[in-house]
Amino acid sequence: MDEVVLIVGAGPSGLATSACLNLLSVPNLVLEREDCSASLWKKHSYDRLKLHLGKEFCELPHMSFPSHAPNFVPKKGFVEYLDAYAEKFNVNPKYCRTVQSAAYDGVTGKWHVTVKNMVSDEIEEYMCKFLVAATGENGKGIIPKVAGLDSFDGEILHSSEYKNGSSYTGKDVLVVGCGNSGMEVAYDLHDWGARTSMVVRGPVHVFTKEVMYLGMSLLKFLPYTMVDSIMVMLSKCQHGDYSKHGIRTPTEGPFYLKWMEGRAPVIDVGTMEKIENGEIKVVPAISNIHGRTVTFQDGKVQHFDAIIFATGYRSMVRTWLKDGEDLLDQNGVPKPSYPDHWKGKSGLYCAGFARRGLLGIAQDAEKIANDISLAMNNVPNKFVSI
Ligand SMILES: Cc1cc2nc3c(=O)[nH]c(=O)nc-3n(C[C@H](O)[C@H](O)[C@H](O)COP(=O)(O)OP(=O)(O)OC[C@H]3O[C@@H](n4cnc5c(N)ncnc54)[C@H](O)[C@@H]3O)c2cc1C
Ligand SMILES: *[C@@H]1O[C@H](CO)[C@@H](O)[C@H](O)[C@H]1NC(C)=O
Repeated sequence: MDEVVLIVGAGPSGLATSACLNLLSVPNLVLEREDCSASLWKKHSYDRLKLHLGKEFCELPHMSFPSHAPNFVPKKGFVEYLDAYAEKFNVNPKYCRTVQSAAYDGVTGKWHVTVKNMVSDEIEEYMCKFLVAATGENGKGIIPKVAGLDSFDGEILHSSEYKNGSSYTGKDVLVVGCGNSGMEVAYDLHDWGARTSMVVRGPVHVFTKEVMYLGMSLLKFLPYTMVDSIMVMLSKCQHGDYSKHGIRTPTEGPFYLKWMEGRAPVIDVGTMEKIENGEIKVVPAISNIHGRTVTFQDGKVQHFDAIIFATGYRSMVRTWLKDGEDLLDQNGVPKPSYPDHWKGKSGLYCAGFARRGLLGIAQDAEKIANDISLAMNNVPNKFVSI
């Protein structure tokens, strides 16, 4: 099948890019491997998840959240917003289509895309002039190598598979990782009556929602280095030093780390209070595991019934995108730096790879759609219409 624009992935990035193209009357097709859009939000996230940022920082182009929506929108509300968004802008992805490869053909000047139909198991071939990679920065959960993990006979889970703590009441559970997911999963586990410990290795920024909100707002007026200092200072005034609980603050600022290294600051959902009260234990890195016994780097030993790895994600774009080395490196991270990260050669684009969350996604979608629309209208038609 010959298309003008193919968009791979029907998460927020794919939906927003398709919507912007539709508004410009540029024909496009979205391919999605799962049987629904926004699968990360509908299927692969925990029950208590809310948007970490205020709703004004999580909107896709051309549609605001309803005014009655709470400032921090719960997962259910965000999913409703995305479904309404797709309907409003007439985005109709083809579901159960896994893109297996996309390669550029210099002779035809088109991308050749091989797709597996997950229902019929058949292979479908597509061609397109413009290809938008929108398969996300969170393609697959990472479980790091830990000595002896194979010998652990309790339950091992990645945070993307965790829903709630109902089956962990009264159990000893270790959460590895203290990003947003780790902190919130630990909170949830404790809430459900699990004896919860959390591995904190490197230093991490932790802010209240209010300080984060202020920071995001100030970014509109101040350079991020200044915003970084203000946030760190405010946080110190509010809480003093978290390091007495085993949580060190990085020397670099929060936005620097997010944008340069992809390490997002943590927005506290109440976990810090439980840590301060000793209800959630902070433990250092694991040195090895033997059966149900975990030995930590401080030499302490503890038994666990389950280990939940909240150790982040890896982009999977490089498994199917065969060309476009100019745009995305081997880890699926854009080579051109922000704000030029979204456009490659030969009609290739990427949406949602700038480590800037939904705000970055909204910007990418608009830029990509405008650029494609321009490129199409540049076909020398101009003089004909005079
Ligand atoms: C737990 C969690 C909470 C987050 N909270 C926030 C927040 O509060 N605010 C914020 O700004 N950002 C947040 N983010 C970051 C980001 O906004 C979300 O991850 C967002 O869903 C990214 O959208 P996306 O469309 O780029 O990727 P995804 O949502 O991951 O969508 C990609 C889609 O592509 C599909 N796909 C993948 N491979 C293929 C293939 N080969 N063929 C066909 N389809 C494929 C997937 O099935 C998926 O549906 C959060 C991320 C996570 C993991
Ligand atoms: C907890 O998650 C399970 C699925 O793992 C689900 O069946 C159950 O309804 C959830 N419980 C609550 C109270 O949300």
